[in-house]
Amino acid sequence: MQIKILPALRGLLTKDRVLPRLVRVEPDGTEPILSLPPGCGDVVCELRRQLPAGASRVTVDGLGTYAAVFGSAAGRAAGKVALVTGAAQGFGYEIAADLAAQGAWVALADINAEGVSRAAARVNADCGREAAIGVAVNVAEVESLQAAVAQVVATFGGLDLLVANAGVLRAGSVKELTVRDLDFVTSVNYKGYFLSVQAVAPILALQHQAAPGLWFDIIQINSKSGLTGSNKNGAYAGSKFGGIGLTQSFALELVEDGVKVNAICPGNFYDGPLWSDPEKGLFRQYLDSGKVPGAKTFEDVKRFYESKVPMRRGCTTPDVMKALYYLVEQAYETGQAVPVTGGQVMLA
Ligand SMILES: NC(=O)c1ccc[n+]([C@@H]2O[C@H](COP(=O)([O-])OP(=O)(O)OC[C@H]3O[C@@H](n4cnc5c(N)ncnc54)[C@H](O)[C@@H]3O)[C@@H](O)[C@H]2O)c1
Repeated sequence: MQIKILPALRGLLTKDRVLPRLVRVEPDGTEPILSLPPGCGDVVCELRRQLPAGASRVTVDGLGTYAAVFGSAAGRAAGKVALVTGAAQGFGYEIAADLAAQGAWVALADINAEGVSRAAARVNADCGREAAIGVAVNVAEVESLQAAVAQVVATFGGLDLLVANAGVLRAGSVKELTVRDLDFVTSVNYKGYFLSVQAVAPILALQHQAAPGLWFDIIQINSKSGLTGSNKNGAYAGSKFGGIGLTQSFALELVEDGVKVNAICPGNFYDGPLWSDPEKGLFRQYLDSGKVPGAKTFEDVKRFYESKVPMRRGCTTPDVMKALYYLVEQAYETGQAVPVTGGQVMLA
């Protein structure tokens, strides 16, 4: 029930084009009591009809009392509620930390439940306020996503921005890659993105119905491998190309719900654990498998890949954030895939 009512209420309590965070509070007896008839077909319409002008706290019969809280933290994401998947480490963690530093409330979600709870605590310590929560989720499973999104709505009242970042990589030749690895990559990168959007789309649509002038964002962290093929890495590249197809299709469909859908396609992020983890990272894997001819150290592998980039360096999270804030702030663009590759991939 919360998931249908709180986003609608959040939209109706919008002030100055900013949606509030909804916080569960003890009633003090002054709140108007809103009551939805059983089987109510149009929650937004019914709540709008009953909501007194200027209300900032309300009791919803059977649900509880909620206060609209407008954040005081300044920044490019001020007052927005963001959900970042795959946020226990790497790009996801750093994106979530940046959003919090820029004034957002952030749900960090990850299959690594312990890791993401630690990551959220770190975000809170670094930004000096209780901006973040950690949420356990497997983006490849519908029920898990539904539970995670319900937790986000219960905590913040709704959502302004989904960053669909969770992703995995199993490199390997088409002649050798196992079906198990193919399914694993596809289930997280392709199906997981589809299901993540499916889980949040109704919430964003309700908010837009309640506050029709306002728009929301879905941003997939795709890859340069979603724009150009990747040798002996077909499962990953295919899942990322598929992600662009989903992005364009969702953009066409969700525009009527006030949702922009875009993708960011970063180049290689050497500083993150995907590459740098000393035991399991890609530097280790590529060195051990002899993928880079003559390479004897991680540095040799890195130099080999950097030499393919016109700007001769890897991608960093600040590079990605510039694209992310552009996409959020740009009111007149949807369905795009923005390369952030130092010139390695150029669009026609
Ligand atoms: N690292 C790069 O060079 C690079 C380059 C371009 C794009 N990307 C993309 O950026 C995104 C993040 O990559 P990264 O380098 O930070 O990876 P990473 O491996 O460091 O982090 C990925 C996170 O996703 C989580 N995760 C994995 N499966 C999940 C699932 N089923 N449900 C929820 N969480 C799950 C992991 O636990 C981990 O915390 C991915 O989509 C990746 O394809 C990475």
